[in-house]
Formats: sequence, structure tokens, C-alpha cells
Amino acid sequence: MKIYNNFSLINHNSFGIEAIAEKFASISTVQELKKIIISNRNEEKIFIGGGSNILITRNIKGLVINLNMKGISSKKIDDNHTEVKINSGENWNDCVKWCLKNNLGGIENLSLIPGNSGAAPIQNIGAYGVELKDVFISCSVLDINTNKILEFKNEECQFEYRNSIFKQNKNYIVLSIKLKLTNSKHILKIDYGSIQERLLQLKIKHPNISDVAKIICQIRSEKLPDPKEIGNSGSFFKNPIITNKHLKELKLNFQDIPYYKLSEIKYKIPAAWLIEKAGFKGKRIKDYGVHEKQALVIVNYGKATGKQILDFSISIQKAIKFIFDIDLDREVNVI
Ligand code: EPU
Repeated sequence: MKIYNNFSLINHNSFGIEAIAEKFASISTVQELKKIIISNRNEEKIFIGGGSNILITRNIKGLVINLNMKGISSKKIDDNHTEVKINSGENWNDCVKWCLKNNLGGIENLSLIPGNSGAAPIQNIGAYGVELKDVFISCSVLDINTNKILEFKNEECQFEYRNSIFKQNKNYIVLSIKLKLTNSKHILKIDYGSIQERLLQLKIKHPNISDVAKIICQIRSEKLPDPKEIGNSGSFFKNPIITNKHLKELKLNFQDIPYYKLSEIKYKIPAAWLIEKAGFKGKRIKDYGVHEKQALVIVNYGKATGKQILDFSISIQKAIKFIFDIDLDREVNVI
């Protein structure tokens, strides 16, 4: 295991932000991980996976550990289900493709989500009506305080919309995850309007899991910028949840406000709509701005700094608070 000094993180964050780590190491086994934590006990340590959900706003005085444990395997549970074990350093989308190739269903709607598999439970990744928690069995984590490995079952992970126990407690490092997928009689989730439209266009009456994956990839790549071309980390904010009373008040001024009912008193509002309505969609200042096709995505056109993007995101939050009296929470982790 090699430790690099004064290492540029530009290729380790999908925002493409230039920042320097005093020390950097890429870890490919759990043993290596335990060892490096012990030998750098007193240093600041930052753990990164694919770097697709972080905004780095400073140089790191300490050690950045890139979790790069590879491996994917499966075992049949019953006639209908297969358990898939994925080590945290595997690219998530490669795993989705692996599952499709092996006719395993349940995560096709999560196609093309950037990042590594170890990050998937941290924010309970979700898209097009499916969340990781729907197929999640358990994960194995390292507690960096005790250097002990613990197992968390689905119900112990406190999964919520873009949230989990691992997002709150940064001492747990995800080592591997186990998913329960279907190996026959797949249950497709295709209610989303945009999926239905594509099925009609493509004249697919009886879609299979690969058809759904293909459609999701099409929809995503049309709207979301490819981080290899324009730095970004997908949705920058979460979709806020407001009360029925608040929604009623907003409807007086904004008749066209879209919403999704969660319960009698709770409604989810698309943050992208709020940001667009506030006039930020496509807005560019220097090398940063809001993407022209998806208002929830903040982009780095070149040499923006993490601090510039963070300040810009705060100005968006302030505008949304002022106009709609809604607090936007960040989805991206700021370092
Ligand atoms: N909208 C706008 N302006 C825009 C874009 C969207 O007004 O520029 C409004 C429209 O009313 C649209 C609604 O927002 O109907 C929802 O838009 P979309 O379906 O694109 O989804 P989203 O709420 O913006 C969420 C996730 C995405 C996920 C999609 C699809 C969050 C924070 N984001 O986005 O996840 O792919 O749904 O399920 O929940 C991510 O987390 O990085 C991510 C990309």
C-alpha cells in the first residue's frame, strides 16, 4: 500500500475540484484499511469512494483514504431470489450491468447512478420509484473507533429518503453490501410518466429488466450532465418536504407548483422546480452555475473552486427561503 504526499484530488471528485491532500492512499483490502487507520490514529482522516457525492472546499491536512475493495458474487436463496454481495469499491453502475447480464432484477431503475457501491446505502440511493432499501439485506461496516467489523441489517440502517445511520455517523465505513434480487418473475417499477412515455415511443408492450435499464439510461443521459464532460455531483439538494398548510399557502401565489403527496400532512416538492422558478436554471457565474437542463444540478465548467460552489449553493438556499419560505437541504457532502 503506497502513501502519496501532496496528492491532487482532481480525479477523485466528480465536481473536478482541484484540492490537495497532504497524504493519500488507495486501499484494496479490509486488512490494509485496518492497518492504515491504526498507523494514522492521530491524523485527520477522510474516506472517499467514487467521489461523486462530495464537494471539496479545502486542502486536506491529513490522510485521504480511497476505498477500493473490489469483488462481486452471488448465491441463490430460493427459486425466485438471489443474494448478491458487492464490495464497496465496485462502481455501482458496473454492478447494475453485472446483475442485468446475470438476469437479476430489482436495481435496473438505479442504472447510471454515479459512484461506488459502498456509498449506495449511505444516502439510500434512489431513482424512478426505487430506493436501495427496497432490495437491501445488510451491509458490513468497519467502526473506525474500535476497528471492529459490524453487520447492519436493513431495519438497523434507519433508511429514509436520501438518509441512513451511515450519513449521520461518520465512524462507520461501509465495506460490502448484500442485496436480494429476483432471478425470475421480475417485478418492474415502470409507473413513472417518463418511463411510460418511452415504452410507448419504443412500442415495447412487455418490457424486461434490460428494457427498463436502457430507458432509464436514456432519460438520465439526456437530462443529467456527464461528470467526465462537466463537473457535477448529480442532485445538489434534496427535494424538500413541507406541510399541507404550507402547500396551501404557496398555491395561492404559485398555482402551478408540482407536489407529491407523502401523507395527509406531508408533501414533497421538487427542488428543481423551486430553483427554476427562482430564476437560477442555466445561470452561470465565472466557472460555476446551475445546469441548463436540470435545475437541481450545480456544475463546474472548468476551474471553479469548492468554496465558490458552496457559496453559490448558499445563495440559492437563501433565495428559496426568501421566495417560498422553504429550507433546502444539501444532498452533497461538504468536506
Ligand atoms: N423540474 C423543474 N425544473 C427542472 C427539472 C425538474 O421544474 O429543471 C421539476 C418538474 O416538475 C419535474 C420534477 O421537478 O417533474 C421532478 O424532476 P425529476 O424527475 O428530474 O426528478 P428530481 O426530483 O429533480 C430526483 C432525484 C434524482 C433522480 C430523479 C428521478 C433527488 C434529490 N433527486 O430528482 O436523483 O434521478 O428524481 O427519480 O431526490 C441524485 O440523487 O443525484 C439524483 C439524480
